[in-house]
Amino acid sequence: MDKDFLQQLAQQLRKPDGDMGKKVGGNMNASNALMNTFTLDELKVQSNDTVVEIGMGNGFFIKDILGNDDSITYFGCDYSELMISEATALNKPFIETGQVKFFNTAADQLPFQAHSVDKVFTINTIYFWANPSVELTEIHRVLKPGGQFFLTVRSKSTMENIPVTQFGFKIYDQTLLTDLLHTAGFKVKQVVEKEEPDLEFSGNTIKVSTWIFCAEAI
Ligand SMILES: C[S@@+](CC[C@H](N)C(=O)[O-])C[C@H]1O[C@@H](n2cnc3c(N)ncnc32)[C@H](O)[C@@H]1O
Repeated sequence: MDKDFLQQLAQQLRKPDGDMGKKVGGNMNASNALMNTFTLDELKVQSNDTVVEIGMGNGFFIKDILGNDDSITYFGCDYSELMISEATALNKPFIETGQVKFFNTAADQLPFQAHSVDKVFTINTIYFWANPSVELTEIHRVLKPGGQFFLTVRSKSTMENIPVTQFGFKIYDQTLLTDLLHTAGFKVKQVVEKEEPDLEFSGNTIKVSTWIFCAEAI
């Protein structure tokens, strides 16, 4: 793949913008669908939960989180103005009833009271955080004691083999992520590992796997 294209793609995955951002936002719904499903399986959202997602992209999967339960409240935070407007368009009915609200904000400035949230999750975002301790500490601040945090990433070997990640993605192993979570005040309860179908890039086959870190605020 052409280097300029990969650089642009990396920038769009980091913070979608403009026409290319709209397309990338849509493509992510397909390429990351299984990661979303795996994460929701662990999240086990219950009636009356308040759930916060960081970096929801265009918010395509929110309907799956809510199911038909109008007692669940969902807040999405994303620093991309484009993703906020796309997610708003896709989730209008839920916004009108007050069940869903979006915040155009970065993960290190969450607009919630301390200890007010039951569950926070984020998928494919930590690669872009310059100093993830800052964001993780902010997530810990807003969670209730015992509140749950789900951090979903592609595994280290997968990330190392995807060409776009050479342009500014931070790649983590499990030890580093576990240490970061501990330092921010979380106990890691388990790391769920999932296999996904292989990807093909320029004639190379890449094994794809996903990690879901299931952590608790202590
Ligand atoms: C690669 S996309 C992933 C979207 C979706 N979670 C998925 O897995 O399909 C990353 C998303 O996180 C957002 N994002 C990245 N870093 C962020 C930060 N520090 N604060 C808020 N949003 C962030 C981007 O704007 C983008 O919408």
